[in-house]
This record gives sequence, C-alpha cells and structure tokens, in this order.
Amino acid sequence: MDKILIKGGKPLLGSVEISGAKNAALPALAATLLTGDAVVLQNVPCVRDIQTTGQVLRDLGCDTDFRTLALTHSCRVSAQNVTSCEAPYELVKTMRASVLVLGPLLARFGKARVSLPGGCAIGARPIDLHIKAFEKLGAEIAIEHGYVEARAPRLKGAEIFFDRITVTGTENLMMAAALAEGHTVLNNAAREPEVADLADLLRAMGAQISGEGSSVIRIQGVERLHGAQHTIIPDRIETGTFLAAGAITGGEVEIRACRPDHLCAVIEKLEETGVVIERPSPSILKVSAPHGIKARNVTTVEHPGFATDMQAQYMALMTQGEGTSIVTETIFENRFMHASEMVRMGASIKIEGNRAIVFGKTQLTGAKVIASDLRASASLVLAGLVAQGDTLIDRVYHLDRGYEGIEEKLKALGADIHRSQ
Ligand code: EPU
Repeated sequence: MDKILIKGGKPLLGSVEISGAKNAALPALAATLLTGDAVVLQNVPCVRDIQTTGQVLRDLGCDTDFRTLALTHSCRVSAQNVTSCEAPYELVKTMRASVLVLGPLLARFGKARVSLPGGCAIGARPIDLHIKAFEKLGAEIAIEHGYVEARAPRLKGAEIFFDRITVTGTENLMMAAALAEGHTVLNNAAREPEVADLADLLRAMGAQISGEGSSVIRIQGVERLHGAQHTIIPDRIETGTFLAAGAITGGEVEIRACRPDHLCAVIEKLEETGVVIERPSPSILKVSAPHGIKARNVTTVEHPGFATDMQAQYMALMTQGEGTSIVTETIFENRFMHASEMVRMGASIKIEGNRAIVFGKTQLTGAKVIASDLRASASLVLAGLVAQGDTLIDRVYHLDRGYEGIEEKLKALGADIHRSQ
C-alpha cells in the first residue's frame, strides 16, 4: 500500500495549476447515460474516482475513451449500447458517488438497480432523500438484498422539497427530471458550483433547466437529450488546499486556473486569520502569510458557506494559529478522524461532539499517521509540510481518489515529499 513521506519545514514557493473538479466531473460522467450520443468532457482530473466511474460506465455497456485522460484531461463516453442497469456493490462500496447513475438510468431506461452505499469514514451518509424524491417522480422503489431497485415506465415531473440540502441528491434528481414528462421543481436544492456545472452540461445536451446556483431549480422535461462537449470547472477544494499549504508553510504560492468566486467563504475566513490573498486576475490567487496566522473559529455549512471539504485542512492551519479556535462541523457527524492523528504529531485538539477546540500555536513533529478519508489525507499532508522531521502517511489511496498529482505539484513548489510502497 502506498505511503507518503514528507520532510517538513520548507516554505512552499512558486506556482501551481489547479485541476478540474472531481465532484463536478463525477455527475457529468453519470449524465452521459442520458443520451445515446457521444459526450466529450474536458478538464477532467486524472484521479482514482474518475477511473472508477469509467469502470462503472463500461460495466453498464458504455463505450468510453479515457486513454489520453492523464495527458489531455479529456474523455469521451457513448451510452448508445447500454446493456445493464445495475451498479454492483463491489464498485459502489469503493465510491459512493456511483449512486449518481440511479437518476440517469431510471430516466432513460425506466429501471435501475444500484447497491446501497453503506456508511463511510465520515458519517452514515444515507440516500433516503434521493429515494424519496424519485418516488415523488413516480418511481417504484424497493430496497432488497442491499440494493435499491427502481422502476418507472416514464418519470413524471413533480414538486420536490428536500428535507435537508444534499449535493448528489440534487444532481441525481436534476438528471432524472431532465428526461421526465412535465415540470419538476427542486426546493431546498444544493447551491454548490458543481450543481451549476452539471446544469450547464445538461443544457448543452438539450435539457431545460433554470435556477441552478439558487435553492429552487426548475426543470422542464424533454423527450430526448443529445451529445455535447463540456469543460469541467476548476476544483475549488484543491484551490483551498493549496491556499492552506502556502499559508501553513509561510511560503508564497501563486494558484492558477482557479475560480476564486467559487470559494469566497474560504478566502474570507483565511483572510480573517491573517493570511494574505491577492487576486491578480479572475483565475489567479496569490497566497502568503507574512504576519503569521491567528486563531479564528469556523463552522462548516452548505455552499455558499465554508465547505465541509475544507474543514480538515483548516484544522491543520489552526494548529499553527496563535490562540484558541473552535472548528464546528455541521454537515457530517464523524468528520474529525484527522484530529487524533494531528494530536499524535503534537497538536493540541479537544473534541466535544461536533466541535473541535484547537489550542495553538503548537510545534508539530513528524510521526507515522493514517489517512482516514480524502480530505483528512490532505490535512495530514499540510501538517506534515510544517512539522519538524519526517511524517509518514499511510493509506494515501484516499488522497489519490481526489487530488491529481499532489506530490508532483507540491514537489514543484519545493516540498520534500516522496511516495513509497
Ligand atoms: N444526507 C441524508 N440523506 C440523503 C442524502 C444526504 O441524510 O439522502 C445527509 C448526509 O448524510 C450528510 C448531509 O446530508 O450529513 C449532506 O450530504 P450530501 O448528500 O450533500 O453529500 P454528498 O452529496 O454525498 C457531496 C460531495 C462530498 C461533500 C458533500 C457535502 C460529491 C461526489 N461528494 O457528497 O465530497 O463533502 O457533498 O458538501 O459531490 C469529498 O470530495 O471529499 C466529499 C466527501
């Protein structure tokens, strides 16, 4: 199993380019199931979750071309000869986002059988809200043998109220409603940029959608969708991670090809902590922390608030903040696994329910640590970059799921980071 070794203490200096957003590319790939024509996606990050989604699509009978993904960040999917409507447990358990094929399969083929994902390291993460909403569109749903079995000759548009905001739930329903008969309104919809990016792709495929980016999304179903070409938005969480990396190491990093308007709350919070962020152009940020870092509280909330996917990285930063900060997690019930690993590196963090109290500033020292999920891995990399001595991070396959070439990117900025078996 791959491990990452970091010799900490070097300020990061230089320039880094942000990849396409994993969480926008995943629903976009699922959306290719909505048409028999070819769909070409650009700026797709070459990360494990994308490869897994390619496998899911091939298993369903899609013709996919991911051959030049690493080089061109472009891939092509044709769902003309879909032979199966089942996403098996073996794939769904490795990547929960596979549940995104439910909506497209049900809408285009009238049936879908998708394994229930089960819990994961950050929380129970049920999909009850997806299921309830599909039922509203007229689907008959049974949960049997660990699978969601959904059927509907043709989905019918409906007014849906999500009990709580769900990102992939909103995306799944948008895709299903695009081919449903009549009008669908999604109330209390997720406002994440990835949802808006999916709406852009669906419109390019011929869908009639409005209101994305707000909490009410309206979809007028159409008979069929067609092929399209679409460029995925930059990854806002990778952007935020590099902002934190520049700041925590006391370096100076230029972050290119990003969308600062997609992470306003993160930028604002980092500025509150004393981090200096310049915006030389609409797609470039420059980060430094010449006056050190101050402790500031943060609470994760849905977009446009501070993203839960930046909570772990922010906690790493707060170990270097002067004073005490409280990090409150409101989206997932078990997303503090990184805290105990940081404590093993010398951080002083106390967990009280959904609050982590971070006492700073502490000198971190390198240690052997274990990554428990994608963002936790990123936070341990950040901690390792500022720690004295060697940090060995185990189970970095989590990192590979969502960060493209993170060691290469950090190495190019001067980090002493290596992968070992
Ligand atoms: N929830 C339910 N029932 C549902 C759906 C969600 O109770 O049917 C709960 C969840 O358990 C959670 C909350 O609602 O407590 C929000 O979950 P949401 O459905 O929004 O999360 P998701 O769609 O499964 C996406 C991202 C996550 C990100 C969250 C929150 C993708 C593929 N994944 O997950 O990304 O943390 O939204 O912003 O878009 C990551 O990239 O590391 C990651 C975990």
